[in-house]
Parts: sequence; C-alpha cells; structure tokens
Amino acid sequence: MALREIFKFGDDILRKKCREVTAFDEKLWQLLDDMAETLQSQDGVGLAAPQVGILRRAVIIDVRDGNGVIELINPVITETEGVQVGNEGCLSAPGEWCEVERPQNVKVKAFDRNGKEIEVEGNGLLARAICHELDHLDGVLFIDRVKQDIPKRS
Ligand code: CO
Repeated sequence: MALREIFKFGDDILRKKCREVTAFDEKLWQLLDDMAETLQSQDGVGLAAPQVGILRRAVIIDVRDGNGVIELINPVITETEGVQVGNEGCLSAPGEWCEVERPQNVKVKAFDRNGKEIEVEGNGLLARAICHELDHLDGVLFIDRVKQDIPKRS
C-alpha cells in the first residue's frame, strides 16, 4: 500500500466526470487499498478516486463508527429520504467548512471490489458522506451546494 497525493480544489481533475469501473482486478484493489491508507492518514470520512487523480467511479467511506471502510464501485443512489443541514468539509479543501443540505437517509446500489452487487443504506453522517463522495464522481464539489458560508476559526 502507498499514500497517494490528494488533488486540491482548483485542479481541473476534480471537475471531470468519471468513467465506470470495468475491470475488478488487482489494479482496482491496489487503488482501493491506497485510498484507504491515504484516508486513514487524514482526518476525513471519505475519499473519491478522482481526488487521487483516477477518473473512475470508485469511492471509499469510513465514518469511524467501528464498521470499517465501505467501498462503493459504480455507485448509484436509488432512494433518498428526509433532509439534514450541517457542516461539511473535503480533503481536497483543507480547513474549509460550509453548511450543506443533504438527504437524511440514502440507499445506494453499487459493486464491491470483486464485482459483486451490493446495497448500502446510510443515515446521518454516513448519508452525507455517501452523497459528498458520489458528487465527486461527477465533478461536483460541496462548495457548489453551499447554503451559507461558515466563518473560519482563527
Ligand atoms: Co470531498
């Protein structure tokens, strides 16, 4: 495993639409393992492949609830319910926090690293993280969804 460089806001790569993963092979597993190590080294709850320069539809999420890392390949949100408004940040924008509205609950269909279909349900922080990371796959950043800027603490 290896740490990968996280691209920051302002880099064009974060605005690109990612292509589907078609090969569930060692190259994908290496990417996912590296992303997990990179995420663990940071104070974040999720990371999308384009943030490490790979334009493929793969994200990982770890809301540090003891359930470990969730890997979502070619994920699609199939259901949303409710609304939550809360502070959100991004490892591609260190120190920036904004108030963003997200669904309270989401259901996602995706594939695991072996190409097996999975369904994941999330609420609260997990729902927020899923929506945030899936946005990255379409070049959408949380600052695009801001309701209100939160002043930075000095
Ligand atoms: Co992000």
